[in-house]
Amino acid sequence: MSEYNDFTMAFQDSADQIPLLLIHGFPLDSTLWELQFQGLEGMSRIIAPDLRGHGRSDNPPGPYSMEMFADDINGLLDHLGVYRPVILCGLSMGGYVLFEFYRRYPERVAGIILTATRAGADSKEGKANRDKAVESVQKNGIRPIAEAMLPKLLAPASYEDKELVAYVREMMETASPEGMLGALQAMKNRPDSTPTLAKIDMPTLVIHGEDDQIIPLAEAEAMFEAIEGSEMVVLENAGHLPNLEQPEKFNEAVADFIESFFEDEEHDHD
Ligand code: MLT
Repeated sequence: MSEYNDFTMAFQDSADQIPLLLIHGFPLDSTLWELQFQGLEGMSRIIAPDLRGHGRSDNPPGPYSMEMFADDINGLLDHLGVYRPVILCGLSMGGYVLFEFYRRYPERVAGIILTATRAGADSKEGKANRDKAVESVQKNGIRPIAEAMLPKLLAPASYEDKELVAYVREMMETASPEGMLGALQAMKNRPDSTPTLAKIDMPTLVIHGEDDQIIPLAEAEAMFEAIEGSEMVVLENAGHLPNLEQPEKFNEAVADFIESFFEDEEHDHD
């Protein structure tokens, strides 16, 4: 209720819904979440930033770090005046950012959704591959990396959906080389988030595609086992982008998770 002169005006504002903040992966942008904006409309206030160097955000010179990405999101929430804790959902690199955000700003987080991601840092071989990727982007731009990643991103069945493949290809090929260089360094130097798992003390959902070729299912199972009270949903016929490959099932899992917060709110009011 808001008081205005001599009468009290009631109003509804969808911005009052619990915020769901979606963090995209590499080398993608917030258009990754198109089907979540459509499918979860009315359940939640959805916020999906383009991380620095990605999508329509600026490309400040790199290297970037997970701390920078997390601080950028903190600044966005301040800018939007969102002071109520949010449900954070991170996909792949977005999950790496999520862990850093949670360590830095735990009071801003109400719940966690870890999608197609892992807690561990890069292995020695992984770091060497990042260096090779940096060299490749410096010499030849983003296209060779996009070409090499595309056949691994989706489940075999998803490649039959030509529109989906074209959508993902376009997202990758329009990525900015400067941004990609910055993000590759951030991923290479990210800390191990495994010790964070045991400290997570809030509702957590792990969602993973059964056919993820980039981050094996075992990584998600390990997070699920290490986070007390967490839930896990494995989606069939989904690879590394389960939110696009199985949008209905993905949205259903997220909607159920969001609904559990409504129930908590109702109990708070009892
Ligand atoms: C991503 O999908 O965000 C990246 O491929 C993750 C990674 O390279 O570690």
